[in-house]
Amino acid sequence: MVRHLSTTWFQRAEAVIAGGVNSPARSFQGVGGNPPVVMARGEGAYLIDVDGNRYLDYLAAFGPLVLGHSHPAVVQAVREAMGRGPLLGTPHPDEILLAEELCRSIQGLEQVRFTTTGTEAVMSAIRLARAYTGRRYVIKFEGAYHGHSDAVLVKAGSGASTVGAADSLGVPAGVTQDVISLPFNDVEALRRTLDTVGSEVACVLTEPIVGNMGIVKPEPGYLEAMAALTRKVGALLIFDEVITAYRFHYGSAGAMLGVIPDLYALGKIIGGGLPAGAYGGRRDIMALVAPLGGMFQAGTLAGNPLSSAAGLATLQVLRNENPYPRMERLASRLADGILHWAQVYHIPVTINRAGSGFTVFFGDSQVTNYTSAQKADKVRFAQFHRLMLDQGIYLAPSRFEAWFVSAVHDDMMIDDTLRAVEVAFQELRRR
Ligand SMILES: Cc1ncc(COP(=O)(O)O)c(C=O)c1O
Repeated sequence: MVRHLSTTWFQRAEAVIAGGVNSPARSFQGVGGNPPVVMARGEGAYLIDVDGNRYLDYLAAFGPLVLGHSHPAVVQAVREAMGRGPLLGTPHPDEILLAEELCRSIQGLEQVRFTTTGTEAVMSAIRLARAYTGRRYVIKFEGAYHGHSDAVLVKAGSGASTVGAADSLGVPAGVTQDVISLPFNDVEALRRTLDTVGSEVACVLTEPIVGNMGIVKPEPGYLEAMAALTRKVGALLIFDEVITAYRFHYGSAGAMLGVIPDLYALGKIIGGGLPAGAYGGRRDIMALVAPLGGMFQAGTLAGNPLSSAAGLATLQVLRNENPYPRMERLASRLADGILHWAQVYHIPVTINRAGSGFTVFFGDSQVTNYTSAQKADKVRFAQFHRLMLDQGIYLAPSRFEAWFVSAVHDDMMIDDTLRAVEVAFQELRRR
């Protein structure tokens, strides 16, 4: 595959954009360090690069594009909204309609407040939990990504109550001291921590199905135990559903798993590919948000007309067409096919799948938390990524991300992908 123009564009990017990318997840540093592919456009299930090469897309822009690229209903809605003015700086119908639709379809979401990103949604939910409880600690889980605000860039710590250290330079020690990071799927670690510092814990923050150490599902009973332990000490449970809401069914993953949090953070799909986030939950807690109460949070672009229209159009298609069973069937076929070729070519592979999303870990051991996810073979993943890219299959450039099957994938595309997987595994076996 020739990618001359892409390489030239990326050289220009490197000169004027830090690292050539506007989010580190887009770089190819985790997969061998080649220049990332510069894409010209997206069409349905495909990405087309600036050299004209086509790639079947399983990235879905890291989750939002559940309807694929440039879905006609979304494009039409955004065009119409643009005609009415991209920003009004006042309340407007589309943001209200979107808020109503979210509250109708997400159990426990009584009120909502829009933000522009998922990062702000989580950051604001944490501030609100602290405002409501008057407490300091946030408990999160190792390897879980919740955006790039200071508090949630804390990961480290072995042992139940180790206070975290920052993963990023520039995060003040004062912030990290108030964040506790625990292993996911470990009830005892949470119990021990809450037994010790429970009365000072404002919130426990988690994705109900983790999407950022690769897909990791909660073990049976884990979320229920988390909710019970959290509430016993008077802390709030926050589900970060930036990836998971509307990914597996028309609503939240929490509701699907039977656990309703006090607060949600939302993003990605609810903006239909445009910038959007939201947080919300119990009405008595949301009563603290300014101007009703004393927890301040704001945004010039929050709930903007274009994002609201795109989100609304996306949700309407999802609700009317219910593509979820089909997406799940295709993802399951694809994951089974990958396992089949892995067996044929003796490539150790573990797949964690939830509905239409899955992660292929190169290794034999089960992945249930960050420690086990890190054991997956990084070099093999990088080689696999390259081999798939060169056959026109676009995967997230990280072994900790998911493959997302969208509503516009079909059986023929799955066949094409499995043919590419066979070639890639054959080559991996040879190396
Ligand atoms: C679970 C989760 N929370 C929060 C975020 C942050 O969202 P954004 O990138 O819109 O700021 C992400 C982004 O990948 C995410 O996956």
